[in-house]
Amino acid sequence: MIGVFDSGIGGLTVVKALKRHLPDYDILYFGDTARTPYGTKSPETVIQYAVEDAEFLLEKGAQMLVVACNTASSTATDTLKERFDVPILEVISPAVNMAVSDSKRTRVGIIGTRATVNSRVYEDKIKAIRPEMKVYSQPCPLLVPLVEEGWLKKGETRKIIKKYLHPLKVKQIDVLILGCTHYPLLKDIIQAKIGKRVKVIDSSEALSVSVIDFLHNNSDVESRLKKDGTCQFYVSDITEQFEQIAGTILKGTVKLEHVRL
Ligand code: DGL
Repeated sequence: MIGVFDSGIGGLTVVKALKRHLPDYDILYFGDTARTPYGTKSPETVIQYAVEDAEFLLEKGAQMLVVACNTASSTATDTLKERFDVPILEVISPAVNMAVSDSKRTRVGIIGTRATVNSRVYEDKIKAIRPEMKVYSQPCPLLVPLVEEGWLKKGETRKIIKKYLHPLKVKQIDVLILGCTHYPLLKDIIQAKIGKRVKVIDSSEALSVSVIDFLHNNSDVESRLKKDGTCQFYVSDITEQFEQIAGTILKGTVKLEHVRL
C-alpha cells in the first residue's frame, strides 16, 4: 500500500491527484487532525509528529510513504529518510523541478504556511538547481482556516488572497508554487489574482507525477504494492467539519476512521 500522511484533511488533495493518475493502487491515508495545524508549530514538534505519523502508516502495512504535507516535507524529510528504510517521496522537490523548468524570467513565487516559508527549503532547492533564480516567498497563514471554514468563494477570501499575492505580483514572478495542501482548493482565485501570465504549480499534481515516475523506475517496490483500488482514511480526531472538508475535496462521502497514535 501507498501510505500518505498530512497534518490533517488538506492532504486529501494529494490523494485526489494520486487517485486520478493511479486509480488501482491501494492507499492508506493518515491525517493528524487532533494536532493540526503543523504550519504554526516549531520544527522540533513537526519532526516529532511526522515520525509518529510515518510509524503509524508503516505499522498498518504501508510499503512506501508520500508526505503530502508541505510543512512536514519541508521540516522532517531528512529525519524521516534517516529513520525509515522505505521509499519516502515528499511534496517539495517535484514542484521545485517543475518551477525551475517552467520559469522563463527566472522569478518564482512560493506561498505556504509560516513554517514552510521559514524553513527556506523551496528557496534552497531552487537555487541548488539554478543559482540565478530569484525566489520570493510569502506566508499565507489565513488561507488554511478559510479553506477549513469552507469559505472557498467568499469575497473576504478573494480580498485576502489579493493582499497576500500583491508583493509577488510586484516582483513580476512568472511561476507560482502552491506550497500547501489546502491551496489547490483556491487555485482558480489564486490564478485570477496573480494574473493569467503566471504559471501556477499545484504541488499535489507535481507530487503525483513524481510518484508515477518513481513506480515506473522501481519495479521491485511497484510489484509489491496492492492494486485493488481501495482507500482507507485514518484520522486522529473526527469532527463533522473534518468530514465535510473531506467530502468537499474528494467530492463524495468519505468514511474517516478514528485512531489514537
Ligand atoms: N498541511 C499543511 C501544509 O501543507 C497545512 C495545514 C497545517 O498548517 O497543518 O503545509
